[in-house]
Amino acid sequence: MTRGSAPIVAARGVGRSVVLPEGDTLTILDGIDLDVYDGDRVSVVGRSGSGKSTLLNLLGLIDTPSAGDLRFLGEDVRTMRGGRRDRLRGEEVGFVFQQFNLLPGRTALENVQTPMLYAPGRSFWRRERIAREMLERVGLGERLATMPERLSGGEQQRVAIARALVRRPRLILADEPTGALDLQTGATVMHLIEEVARETDAALVTITHDPTIAARSSRHLRLDAGRLVDKIEVPA
Ligand SMILES: Nc1ncnc2c1ncn2[C@@H]1O[C@H](COP(=O)(O)OP(=O)(O)O)[C@@H](O)[C@H]1O
Ligand SMILES: [Mg+2]
Repeated sequence: MTRGSAPIVAARGVGRSVVLPEGDTLTILDGIDLDVYDGDRVSVVGRSGSGKSTLLNLLGLIDTPSAGDLRFLGEDVRTMRGGRRDRLRGEEVGFVFQQFNLLPGRTALENVQTPMLYAPGRSFWRRERIAREMLERVGLGERLATMPERLSGGEQQRVAIARALVRRPRLILADEPTGALDLQTGATVMHLIEEVARETDAALVTITHDPTIAARSSRHLRLDAGRLVDKIEVPA
């Protein structure tokens, strides 16, 4: 895999606003400047409602900006067609959410295979084996046929991690990935995400309230009412 020195995603003056039902405009994000590179470890903190999830959704091509310039691998996200955006997201981005978002009534193995159902070529045909290897990688080789609802929170998050990373995304976006887990389980899950990110030289952007998790990244950002402020000091 060749990885360049150009950013994976580059934001310049990016804003996101919504028009509320009463007709007022709510500015959620404003003037965001941010580059994320291969192998980056970025943490984002900020109080509830400061725009963290909205920012992650923009970086991961779930949402599009209402102002500014956002480039993903050099391509202008705002003029990109929806299909192109979906494909780029599927190939290059892996999301891990606080609430796991696994498909109920589908086994762990089926859940991890879903990102490959729309993948071109070899990974489609080999999806079961690739998914099994990924579940083994996260320590769930014995739970392949188990439904998510019968797994513990930590195990469910490991399935979600396997699903997020099974296509070897270049950019991993984790939105409070340990928020629903106890401290010990959260630490284990976070180490696992970091290990897999390191193995594939992926960039990792993590939203977290946990200062010990934030401290492990190399860049610390804080969102304050929709504006990004560099956080120089490393939390204890
Ligand atoms: N589609 C939307 N419509 C209206 N308000 C929204 C929408 N998306 C987010 N918001 C509001 O924008 C603010 C930031 O949301 P969010 O990015 O989820 O914050 P955080 O993840 O930091 O808690 C919140 O006040 C939220 O209610
Ligand atoms: Mg959020």
